[in-house]
Amino acid sequence: MSDVNERVNSLISMLKRRGFVYPAFSIHGGVAGLFDYGPVGGRLLRKVQEQWREHWLSKGNIVEIDSPTITPHSVLEASGHVGAFNDHASECGSCKAIYRSDHLVEQYHPNPDSLTGLELDELIKTNEVSCPSCDKKEMLPSRPMNLMFSTRIGATRGGRQAYMRPETAQGMFLSFPMIQRHFRNRLPFGAIQVGKGYRNEISPRQGMIRQREFNMAELEYFIDPEINPNHEFIKWKDTTFDLIPDPQNNQQKTVKMNILDALQNNIVRHPTVAYFMAETYDFLIGIGADPNRIRFRQHESDEMAHYASDCWDLEMLGSYGWIECVGIAHRGCYDLGAHEKATKSNELRSWREYDEPIEVNKTVPSPVGSVVGPTFRQQAASVSDALLNLEELPNQYPFQLILDDGSSVTITQDMVEIKEISETIRGEWFLPHVVEPAFGIDRIIWHILDHGYEITKKEGEEYCILHLSEHVAPYDVVILPLFEKDGMEEFALNLQSEILQLNRINAYYDGSKSIGRRYARADEIGVPWAITIDYTTLEDGTVTIRRRDDQKQVRITTDDLITLLSDNSLHSQF
Ligand code: ATP
Ligand code: GLY
Repeated sequence: MSDVNERVNSLISMLKRRGFVYPAFSIHGGVAGLFDYGPVGGRLLRKVQEQWREHWLSKGNIVEIDSPTITPHSVLEASGHVGAFNDHASECGSCKAIYRSDHLVEQYHPNPDSLTGLELDELIKTNEVSCPSCDKKEMLPSRPMNLMFSTRIGATRGGRQAYMRPETAQGMFLSFPMIQRHFRNRLPFGAIQVGKGYRNEISPRQGMIRQREFNMAELEYFIDPEINPNHEFIKWKDTTFDLIPDPQNNQQKTVKMNILDALQNNIVRHPTVAYFMAETYDFLIGIGADPNRIRFRQHESDEMAHYASDCWDLEMLGSYGWIECVGIAHRGCYDLGAHEKATKSNELRSWREYDEPIEVNKTVPSPVGSVVGPTFRQQAASVSDALLNLEELPNQYPFQLILDDGSSVTITQDMVEIKEISETIRGEWFLPHVVEPAFGIDRIIWHILDHGYEITKKEGEEYCILHLSEHVAPYDVVILPLFEKDGMEEFALNLQSEILQLNRINAYYDGSKSIGRRYARADEIGVPWAITIDYTTLEDGTVTIRRRDDQKQVRITTDDLITLLSDNSLHSQF
C-alpha cells in the first residue's frame, strides 16, 4: 500500500473511531454518500460554519436567511435545474457497475466535465477504458442523469412535484424582494445561507468529497452591473495567488499573481469576482488550511454551469489530489431574470436613479370624457383609468379593454384622443447581477483534517497529532487530573466548570487511563491545550499547561490560566 493510502486509511479510521465522521445507517448496511458527524465531528462542523458566518456577516452589508430544503418543481424548472442539472452515467455491460462518465476519462482529458455525452463515449471507446470494478472493456454508451432527488408535496396522487434542493442559492433569489427591502433598496448587498444540499450523485466515492446530502454555505451578492464596485484590494497587495486561467488549448499552467494584477490583466474578469476569490482565500487560511495547497482554476466556457458567465473553482490539494471546494461564479442576472420570466413578477428588480432626470415626449391615449361618461356611467372612472394605464397605443378599433375588476368593455375610436405629453424620467428598473461564492463545507473540513493530520512516532509507536486551528478545534481545552484520587478529581471538575463559564471556551474532562494515553487521545482529536492537575496543584494552586503542537509545558496559577484563556493569550506563556 502506498504511503498516501496508508495515511488516508489511518485518518479515516481515526475519524470513525473518535466520532468525527462515519458512514450513516451502517447497522442497516449503510448508504453510499450519506454520513453522520458524531460527537466530535459535530462540534467541528458547527465551528467551521460559525467561522464562515462570522466572516461574511462582519462585512456589514450581508445578512443571513434560511429557506426550505424542499423546493417546488416550478422554482427549479425556472432556475434551469430540471432541464440541465445532469451528469453522464456509464454502465458496465458486464458487471453493471455505474460510474460518472467524465470520471472514467480523467487521465485522457484535462477537463472532462466540459464534454458532451457523445464526446465522453468517444474518449471511452478510443482509449479502451475498462470498468474500474471488473476490469472488462464493456462500458455501454453514457446517458444523462438528473441529479436532483424527486419528492411530492402533499398526497401522493394529488400532490405537487418537488425536489430536495440541489443548492441553497434559489432561496436567496426568491427572498430578493425581502432582502432588498431590508437594505432600503441600496445595492450592493448580499445574503448567505448555510444548510443541506442534496444531489443523487451517480457513484459517490472518496468519502466526504462526494456525498448525496452535504453541507453547503452560499453567498449571493447582488450588484448593479453599471456601477464600478470599488473594492479595496490593498489588503492583498503582498499575497500571491496560484491561478490557472481559462485552460485554453488544454494547458493547465499555473500562474502566480497578485489578485489586483490578475484583475488588471483581465485574467479575472470582474472586480467582485476577484474580491470574493481573495476573501475566500482569507477565510480558508483563517480556519487552518495550508496556503501552499490552495489554487484557483478558471472554468472553460463549456464547463461552466448553465447560469454562469465567469467561474473560478478554489481547489485544495489533499490525499485525493486537487479537489474543488468552493465555486465562485458570476451568475449575471440569469436567476432573477429566469424567475421574473417564469412568474411575471415585477419584484425582482432594483431601481437605478439617473444622475440627471431626462425629459421625454410621449404620445398617450386619453379618454374623451364627453363620450366615455355617458356610455359607461358608473363604470366611466374605471374605464378612464384603464385607458390612461395602457402601455401601448391601440392600433385598431374597436378593441377590448380589461378593467381592474377583470371585466372588459368595448372601446371605439371616438372614446380615445391621442395626446402628446412631456414626461420626466428619473431612473429605471433593472435586474441586478449576482456574484456567488458557493462553499462545500464537508470538502473543506476534509482538507483541513487532511492538512492537519500528522503521523509521527513516540517511543517506537505510531503517534498522531491533529494540528487544527484553534478557531475550529472541536474542544479548546482538556482537563486531566493526574489521578482520580486525593482531591485531584474534584479540583479538575471545579476548574472545568469555571472554564465552561468563560465565553465560547469548551473544556472536557478526561480521567481514564494513564496520563500519556490521555494526552495522546487529546492530540489525536486536535485539542490545542491540555491542563494537568497534580499533587503540586493541591499544594499551591498551579497547573501544567501543555501545548498540542510542540508538546511544551509550563506551570501557571489557575487565576492566570482563567485570565489567559479568556484573553485568548495562552501562547504568551511559551
Ligand atoms: P463537482 O464537479 O465536484 O461535482 P460541482 O461543480 O458540481 O462539483 P458546485 O455545483 O459548484 O460543485 O457546488 C458548490 C460546492 O459544493 C462545490 O465546490 C463543492 O465543494 C460542494 N459539493 C458539490 N457537490 C458535492 C457533493 N456531492 N458532496 C460534497 N460536496 C459537494
Ligand atoms: N450554487 C452553486 C452550485 O450549487 O452549483
